[in-house]
Amino acid sequence: MEANQATAVKYDMEVVRWFTIAAAIYAVVGTLIGVYVASELAFPFLNFDIPEITFGRLRPLHTNAVIFAFGGSVLFGTGYYIVQRTGATKLWSNGLAWATFIGWNLIIVSAVITLPLGLSQGKEYAELPWWVDIAIAVVWLMYGFNYIMTIGIRKTSHIYVSNWFTMGMIIMITYLHVVNSLAIPVDWATSYSIFSGVQDAMVQWWWGHNAVGFYLTAGFLGIMYYFVPKQAQRPVFSYRLSVLHFWSLTFGYVWLGAHHLQYTALPDWTGSLGAAISLAMIIPSWGGAMNGMMTLSGAWDKLRTDYVLRFLVVSLAFYAMSTFEGPVMSIKTVNALSHYTDWTVGHVHSGALGWMAMVSFGAMYHMVKKLWGVEKMYSEGLVNVHFWLATIGTVVYVVAMWVSGIMQGLMWRDYDEFGTLTYTFVESVSAMHPYYVMRAIGGAIFNLGAWVCLYNTVMTVRTASALRSSNAVAANA
Ligand code: HEM
Ligand code: HEM
Repeated sequence: MEANQATAVKYDMEVVRWFTIAAAIYAVVGTLIGVYVASELAFPFLNFDIPEITFGRLRPLHTNAVIFAFGGSVLFGTGYYIVQRTGATKLWSNGLAWATFIGWNLIIVSAVITLPLGLSQGKEYAELPWWVDIAIAVVWLMYGFNYIMTIGIRKTSHIYVSNWFTMGMIIMITYLHVVNSLAIPVDWATSYSIFSGVQDAMVQWWWGHNAVGFYLTAGFLGIMYYFVPKQAQRPVFSYRLSVLHFWSLTFGYVWLGAHHLQYTALPDWTGSLGAAISLAMIIPSWGGAMNGMMTLSGAWDKLRTDYVLRFLVVSLAFYAMSTFEGPVMSIKTVNALSHYTDWTVGHVHSGALGWMAMVSFGAMYHMVKKLWGVEKMYSEGLVNVHFWLATIGTVVYVVAMWVSGIMQGLMWRDYDEFGTLTYTFVESVSAMHPYYVMRAIGGAIFNLGAWVCLYNTVMTVRTASALRSSNAVAANA
């Protein structure tokens, strides 16, 4: 994967170190807000009648924090790491990479200010005001330009598959973000989308699903294809399959958006097309998941002692599971039951916690050791503790949402012998209560794991720095 000359190259890793620390912090913050919003749904008094912390305002803060702050820091950090190591070259511009670090964090600060104030464009995962959208496009393009230029100056002949996934993500997210954000500004806080009605909905979910497909999936598959073989110390099971995975994913995902809008004013055929392609996506997704898993053939025993590998393998299991569940939910008859219910939220978090966060933690632990030049984390035992907290937290969360979602859907559609609804809406809300408490507990367990990760990371960095300075003193003595 990496050329021999790689050892001679001095990489630009300081910016990667900062993105990694930022990711560990944002994992704690993003999931903590998640636990708070989950608790608000279980115990609404937690809104305290303070507009800035009500569910409606903190929910987008949660999604932006986990997707863009945590996920974004992981994607930028691992992207800069992988492109250098697989290309045996420094970054094309270290300065530009630092500009993305500063720019992205300023965007996060602007989200922390604007969302609790209630400023929102009302589009999911695209809530931020128009001027922040411009800033996102600029920083993202700087990342993309630097990435592609670094590929251009690589010393290796081949472009490793992880880079294809990352470049696919960069190009598609630029295009989706720019088109979906096209709006006419009125003042600094208000703008109107240039699309209206059904077109606006279609464009929004074309963005929405591809934010899942390219950002939360393709980007993290790039991470998977680099860190699973590295951590398992085996070549990827089938390189040919990984390339097939990339191209089929890229051509398939862009057609799926309409599965979010079944039974709406959209032409019926668009939903059918979305469902048909969604079902077809099981093939590349499972091919990719199996490819990752099979990379461990002959090395499964490592799972007994290698806790980082456990994160990576469990993430693949959740990737497989959520990419089976998603296509099933896109089928119109299933969607008639699942849409508007907590089943969707359960599906989201089996992908987000089980796949995206787990693969991120695996990659972060791997990188921390390499970046700070240590053999082990400060506590390998704590990595294992984190692994179990994350796994148990995810399972508790997702199971709670499956049960509550399916129950909710069934209660809403139940009729008595007179043809009237059996349950009032409020009865369905109170039936959800135990599951909302269970979800908050699952989330809190997951969040505790993120704290453990942050503590272990900080202690590893401190120990490595102390060791380095004591070695320097010894060398000068
Ligand atoms: C082949 C793969 C997948 C397909 C076909 C798929 C399909 C679906 C469907 C049908 C919905 C429900 C739409 C609705 O009723 O409104 C949905 C929602 C969602 N899925 Fe997936 N899914 C897939 C994989 C994933 C993965 C891996 C993740 C996370 C990393 C994910 C994240 C989401 C999110 C965030 C939503 C909720 C969107 C919203 O309503 O805000 N999906 N998906
Ligand atoms: C401690 C962990 C977490 C907890 C307790 C939590 C809790 C929540 C809650 C309560 C909601 C609102 C659901 C609703 O509107 O009914 C939500 C939405 C969402 N969360 Fe999380 N979350 C956590 C971690 C994450 C992570 C790591 C991600 C990563 C991407 C994520 C992505 C999302 C998304 C995309 C939505 C919108 C779902 C939709 O519209 O269907 N969450 N979360």
